[in-house]
Amino acid sequence: MSKKNASVWTSIRFWRRSAAWVTGTATVLLIWLTFNTMGQISMGSDADLANGVKKRIPAPTVINYHIDYVMDQKRGHEVPVIGQKEPFFGKQWSAEEAAALLHHGKLTSQAKNCMNCHTLLGNGAYYAPDLTKAWLDPRWEDGTMAAITGKNSKEEAMAEFLMHPSQYPTHARMMPNLNITQDEAVALVAFLKHMSSIDTNGFPRNFSQNAKRLEGGTNAH
Ligand code: HEC
Repeated sequence: MSKKNASVWTSIRFWRRSAAWVTGTATVLLIWLTFNTMGQISMGSDADLANGVKKRIPAPTVINYHIDYVMDQKRGHEVPVIGQKEPFFGKQWSAEEAAALLHHGKLTSQAKNCMNCHTLLGNGAYYAPDLTKAWLDPRWEDGTMAAITGKNSKEEAMAEFLMHPSQYPTHARMMPNLNITQDEAVALVAFLKHMSSIDTNGFPRNFSQNAKRLEGGTNAH
């Protein structure tokens, strides 16, 4: 075949160069993405919270703050908004205390196998509601559960529910008693409160609407 008639698609030189370019560009892109992701998923600090610096995953001391779940029109879903300081189980927790509490909560959630029935950040089983935003469930927010459990605060109501879930059945399915102690319940509630503060790009989808629908259907099934 004469050189003049050879198509570029059959040129080995062309394909070698293309391969080198594609590999090079993809490598640079992947390195950039890796660093970008590391920045997005690294946990914020106590100072970030104090200075109002937004982090996808706030520091453990976020348990000392009020967390709202607000519709973000631009992003098209709800996002957690960290508000004013509020007591958590009657006190403010230091950075060390909060970190230790969350660690205890995480270990308890694993030891008691919450994922056997629930999903956490989407991982787990589909028997019971997703717990990612459980702290922001309107039932705890509007005082319904506080009234039912006879507790004064949202965190105490949730801890009471976790210790004696079969006494407070609110959906058609009942959560069984898992012999959760007071200390474990406090740690689990902290774990759930922290998890609810994570910006999960609106996961689980339409959480508030679904929670309200469930609430409307309470005892109806
Ligand atoms: C055997 C299955 C099962 C296990 C294990 C289980 N749960 Fe549940 N859980 C349920 C069911 C069913 C419900 C819904 C019952 C209700 O609301 O009355 C529920 C409800 C809840 C709620 C209320 C949800 C909301 O949105 O308000 C919380 C919080 C909760 N569970 C936390 C936990 C934690 C934390 C663990 C692990 C320590 C756990 N559960 C383990 C079955 C389970």
